[in-house]
Amino acid sequence: MKSTIDNTVEFVKKQLEGAEAGHDWFHIERVWKLSKKIAAAEECNQDVVELAALLHDIADPKFHDGDETLALKISRDFLESQKVPEDVILQVLFVIKNISFKNRGEVPENLPIELKIVQDADRIDAIGAIGIARTFNFGGFKNNLMYHPDIEPKLRMSKDEYKKSNGTTINHFYEKLLLLKDLMNTDEGKKIAEERHNYMLLFLDQFYKEWNVD
Ligand code: ADP
Ligand code: NI
Repeated sequence: MKSTIDNTVEFVKKQLEGAEAGHDWFHIERVWKLSKKIAAAEECNQDVVELAALLHDIADPKFHDGDETLALKISRDFLESQKVPEDVILQVLFVIKNISFKNRGEVPENLPIELKIVQDADRIDAIGAIGIARTFNFGGFKNNLMYHPDIEPKLRMSKDEYKKSNGTTINHFYEKLLLLKDLMNTDEGKKIAEERHNYMLLFLDQFYKEWNVD
């Protein structure tokens, strides 16, 4: 599958030209590398893991008018053009369809290991120093406030509320980022998440200290 993976890298780079900096090729590259690292300790189909990691944000609904089918269509067309076997295509599409944090209530039980791996990798890239940077970049992209002392985080948002939420960037830590550590699927994922989680707690402490000048 080496040449298929190489072709996928080229395809994804091209598709994501001009993407928001938190969801660009470099996000994909980090998730791809993290997926390989996590996969090394698991028994899994390596091709499915790598193709799913590379294609998982090929058409994120939040940048495509909420369209949740576009990524599946683009991925299927591409994988078919590469003559990838149908059973591999189906497994890759399953990962892409079910990876998202906002869908966490609807995912079927007994998840395939390939989904667990790529989901952990994607979530790890949402936390720690990179997670902080991506989150402020996205908040700026949406013109959201960094922080407002009177706007409380909204825990337990429905999927629709979550997608529409334009709360503050600091609130996104409580609404998503700080929850990810306990949602990790794999042992390796848990280990990496722990350190990054603690770094975010330090960041928040320092942020409030500097905000509240006295
Ligand atoms: P998923 O890709 O799992 O569906 P999201 O779309 O919720 O997850 O978010 C991906 C990343 O985009 C987040 O980790 C964060 O960096 C950024 N992001 C999403 N929503 C917000 C928000 N409301 N404020 C700031 N950053 C956000
Ligand atoms: Ni992603």
